[in-house]
Amino acid sequence: MSDFESTEHNNRFGAVITGTGSFTPEKVLTNADLEKMVETTDEWITTRSGIKERRIADKETAASDLSFEATKKAMAEAKIKPEELDLILIGTVTPDYLLPSTACILQDRLGAKNAAVMDIVAACSGFLYGLSVAQAFIYSGKYKTILVIGVEVLSKITNWNDRNTCVLFGDGAGAAIVQRTQENNKGILATYLCGDGSLANLLHIPVGGTRTPLTKENIDKGDQYIKMEGSEVFKSAVRSMEDAATRALKEANISAEQIDLLIPHQANIRIIEATAKRLKMPMEKVFVNIDKYGNTSSASIPIALDEARKSGRIKPGDITLLVAFGAGFTWGSAVIRW
Ligand code: UT7
Repeated sequence: MSDFESTEHNNRFGAVITGTGSFTPEKVLTNADLEKMVETTDEWITTRSGIKERRIADKETAASDLSFEATKKAMAEAKIKPEELDLILIGTVTPDYLLPSTACILQDRLGAKNAAVMDIVAACSGFLYGLSVAQAFIYSGKYKTILVIGVEVLSKITNWNDRNTCVLFGDGAGAAIVQRTQENNKGILATYLCGDGSLANLLHIPVGGTRTPLTKENIDKGDQYIKMEGSEVFKSAVRSMEDAATRALKEANISAEQIDLLIPHQANIRIIEATAKRLKMPMEKVFVNIDKYGNTSSASIPIALDEARKSGRIKPGDITLLVAFGAGFTWGSAVIRW
């Protein structure tokens, strides 16, 4: 049902997550494997980032394939059929194609013939941007059932000769079904989104867009891959994640002590620890799986959310805080009561 409801219904609806799913490729790339590829050590990668291994998609696998697997699990838990989806939102910077959107490809594969479809480009904040858009459409009365995905195949835009970046990234997908509820004070209580394009050059892919199309010369230089000024990004990430968390908590009228579980974007264990410290949250209340997957950009929060739910770290009535930061820069947060 995607017709606009009468305005008298507006603001009566809440948005709840009724199912989650995640999927990562089978192939594991360990720090020991990377030691054979670039000048690095397991010790450097572990102490500087917290990463021990990451998953890598095979040559044939694209973002829609990982999305499809994660979505099947989320839909099974939510007990919904593809035709019930009103909207598919995919946060990704590694789409199947530049045209059409990955959401279109997935819609066809799912048979979600009643769904509107779009991709969201917000890098590591992509899932939270999607969640916030889903919440807004549900609040407005426009849609009832929305699929939000974060998916990346970063291995295909990583320069495997650049030790500054190639040790950090991994592939995967996470999905959530967001649905209308009339229960008070349950579901997504608040979201916050922000961005700062003035810092775009600190984390970007220099060529391949309309500013600088691909040429043989720039491909030979490796400019089609991710470039990052790691330590500058690090500082902004800690500041912005604290700010985003604080703002969503304020909007939800909830204190940091009331949060049962913090699920931060998994980019670097030191960023996660610094964010938790600034929010005065003990690490026992922080979900960490960066050791297994590395930085999967927009997929990191929905994979972590799914693992946290399936492993019993989130129980009915719990309050969870999600917070992300990424290229753009973009950052955002969400407070959810289960
Ligand atoms: O997903 C959202 C956006 N991304 C992030 O939030 C990531 C933010 N940044 C980071 O996580 C960290 O900055 C890194 C993990 C990328 C790097 O850690 P760092 O403590 O900031 O190290 P650094 O960049 O200051 O580099 C320190 C040294 C350099 O050597 P010199 O110049 O001090 O001699 C690098 O060349 O470490 C060297 N280095 C490496 N050494 C071994 C850089 N990469 C490697 C490597 N192995 N893989």
